[in-house]
Amino acid sequence: MPPLLLLSLLLLSAFLAASASSPPQDLQVKIQDATLTEDDLVSSSTWINSACCPNGLNAVCWAAKLGSKSLPLLLSKGGSATLWHEETKTSPSHFAAREGFYHSLKALLDSLPPSDAALELEREDEHGNNVLHLASLSGQVAMVNLLRSYNKSSDKWMVNANHNGNTPLMFAAFFSHEKVLERLLEVDSVVEGIDVQAGNGRTALMLAASSGCAECVRKLLVKGAMLDLECEDGANAVSIATEKGEAEVLQILVDARTEL
Ligand SMILES: *[C@@H]1O[C@H](CO)[C@@H](O)[C@H](O)[C@H]1NC(C)=O
Repeated sequence: MPPLLLLSLLLLSAFLAASASSPPQDLQVKIQDATLTEDDLVSSSTWINSACCPNGLNAVCWAAKLGSKSLPLLLSKGGSATLWHEETKTSPSHFAAREGFYHSLKALLDSLPPSDAALELEREDEHGNNVLHLASLSGQVAMVNLLRSYNKSSDKWMVNANHNGNTPLMFAAFFSHEKVLERLLEVDSVVEGIDVQAGNGRTALMLAASSGCAECVRKLLVKGAMLDLECEDGANAVSIATEKGEAEVLQILVDARTEL
């Protein structure tokens, strides 16, 4: 074979190898617009789980974060539903839960064998939050129901605390997501842990009082939350509501105390 032809063949094969191992052009935009096609993913095995999107995210994390309809396609072509974003210790399901994308979260968990999906429920991000914390944060009651269905044998994981000692119930109380709070309070282990105190001593009731969520306060009291617990700085639910000027919450708390 003439050397020149050999050289061009070598160059051609090197070029083909390179193009086969890199993500399609405009991958980020295609995921964003949900216009990714099967053809785009023909050679996906070499790059699909690599950092190919903004902030070093892999394609699946990026799709989950955006709630992209391209997510199922990525998952069916070898995209991993459990691969961390190392920097933030964030999994694709953390992104979906935090951004409030129910269908993305479901697609991710459904792509896993049941035992792996159950494990995914307890994985913690860099702040110690699991997917339920993040679903509570984003106020998604449907997500809470969904998550529960992946570990029917136990609800203990639903009261896991993050690095600051905050539970999903505390998030729901603090962010005034009364529907999420109500749903969580239907779970036995959550009611058992209703008075759990975070690192600074705050309880779900104190957090609800502080955010002025009267309905949350009512629901917590009905389920037996204790009124007189004090946090580190000596405050309790009543003093917090007083300090914040939350008149309605204060009234509910004072009425509850008289009933005791
Ligand atoms: C369900 O959650 C419990 C408590 O967190 C855990 O011990 C158990 O292993 C989980 N189930 C599965 C199938 O992983």
